[in-house]
Amino acid sequence: MRTPLIAGNWKMHGTIAESEERVASLLPRISTAEHVDVAVCVPFTALQAVVDSSRGSRLGVFAQNVHWEPQGPYTGEISVPMLTEIEVGGVVVGHSERRQLFGETDKHLQLKVPAALSAGLQVILCVGETEEERENGDTERRLRHQVQEGLEKVETDRLGDVVIAYEPIWAIGTGQTATPEQAQEALAFVRALVADRSKEQAERSRILYGGSMKPDNAEELLALPDCDGGLIGGASLDVAQFTAIVEAAPRA
Ligand code: 13P
Repeated sequence: MRTPLIAGNWKMHGTIAESEERVASLLPRISTAEHVDVAVCVPFTALQAVVDSSRGSRLGVFAQNVHWEPQGPYTGEISVPMLTEIEVGGVVVGHSERRQLFGETDKHLQLKVPAALSAGLQVILCVGETEEERENGDTERRLRHQVQEGLEKVETDRLGDVVIAYEPIWAIGTGQTATPEQAQEALAFVRALVADRSKEQAERSRILYGGSMKPDNAEELLALPDCDGGLIGGASLDVAQFTAIVEAAPRA
């Protein structure tokens, strides 16, 4: 059985003070939630503070990007050892905002995913199609490319450790959620792509849905056979909404 993961992606929201306030409000609300893993993906400057204030709790603290080299002439980048030094537990990579706005490519992800995994970070690899790709019937082609490239340099026996978040770009921040049928079809397809490398690992893989997941649609999405959790943007900034989604996961 796969334990569901509910991960909040705070994106570029939260000074240190705001992040500490948010996490202080969140921790008591999730302390008794069972059969669900919970994480937040925090802006770099607030990582240390959130790690410190959630130490000893069940909350995973993740970064939102990482470079593949341990150090070097890469202005503006943050490396894996910089994250592990402050006890960050994981990282979300390949978010469509990074791909579309900051030129992140599948080739970068091919290096980032194994670099983070081998240092003990949990990895959430984001994939997803644009609206145009969906309309043109190119969703599977796009997902195949992203999943195969992103996992290419991951050793077979570690494939199941990579969490993959299916986030249709047209559903991100739009309030337009994928229908349960669309989501299940894509999530199952992503799992099948992992199974092309290893059936056993694909059974371990946690595949998340992301894109306008809210308290009122979470349970239906989380109940889908191939949905092992959610990557939550807007609703993760509201502690009550995020908690409601965390609570929906074990029910689903
Ligand atoms: P929203 O939940 O705001 O649509 O964002 C989803 C997302 O991009 C999570 O990474």
